[in-house]
Amino acid sequence: MSRHDLLISGRQVTKEFGYGLKKTTAVDRVDFDFHEGEIISIVGESGSGKTTLAKILMGLLKETGGAVEYKGKPRQLKSHKERKAYWKDIQAIFQDPFSSFNLFHKVEKLLLDCIKLQGLKLSREEQFLKMKDACSFVNLKFEELYNKYPFELSGGQMQRLMIARIFMLHPKVLIADEPTSMVDACSRSTILDMLLKLRDENNMTIIFITHDVGLAYYVSDTLYIMQKGQFVERGPAESLILAPQHPYTRQLINDVPKIHSEWNLA
Ligand SMILES: Nc1ncnc2c1ncn2[C@@H]1O[C@H](COP(=O)(O)OP(=O)(O)O)[C@@H](O)[C@H]1O
Ligand SMILES: [Mg+2]
Repeated sequence: MSRHDLLISGRQVTKEFGYGLKKTTAVDRVDFDFHEGEIISIVGESGSGKTTLAKILMGLLKETGGAVEYKGKPRQLKSHKERKAYWKDIQAIFQDPFSSFNLFHKVEKLLLDCIKLQGLKLSREEQFLKMKDACSFVNLKFEELYNKYPFELSGGQMQRLMIARIFMLHPKVLIADEPTSMVDACSRSTILDMLLKLRDENNMTIIFITHDVGLAYYVSDTLYIMQKGQFVERGPAESLILAPQHPYTRQLINDVPKIHSEWNLA
């Protein structure tokens, strides 16, 4: 596949929770087309359905309506084999990097597990080089970290380690659900730059989920603006920020004064 081939698409994808009076339509008939090597941001305020959509994309939640296509075919996740193949291609990082794995395991084990997951049979020396390489991709020193427990690391270091895992697993698609919302400002820009680097060096498709249209603009090719479960506007990041069509998009942009001042877009 080349950089711009269509990878994942959705038509009228819907997720309803509950029944009757308690029914919530978290994702409401959304259409999307995500391409190889594209960085897409899904932007919307809390409760707009972003995480629910992320889980549908991950194959962790089943849509209640509509259809998802992967590589031009209806996505099938019924058998164990189908799910295994899909999860090899799609990985995620979440808001809280500490939530994703066992806190009693040291950094070295966390990284070794990635090598195991890939089914690679490597010598001790090769394992070491692979882990070292992954750490240097995210500007961490394996020698300083391998013997530490997660609680001895900062949120930013931990999130970078999560990205080092992604670097090792090299999935086709990375879904990053608010990956910078629990880290300090300095780590935030490092993390965003690493997402860009993953795309540039590995042609990864990245779906970046955020409530911050400023961050989204900084990293993405394409923006999808989500409100109450629906995409109210989508398009190339630049033109969407310069000429927003939907009132909700305008409101999100107005809520981020730095877009106007720092990027001279006012
Ligand atoms: N498992 C669930 N059961 C019932 N309602 C849910 C569930 N998960 C999410 N929701 C509801 O769906 C809506 C969207 O939530 P979510 O996808 O988490 O939004 P976001 O990530 O944009 O904050 C919210 O109203 C939320 O309460
Ligand atoms: Mg969320």
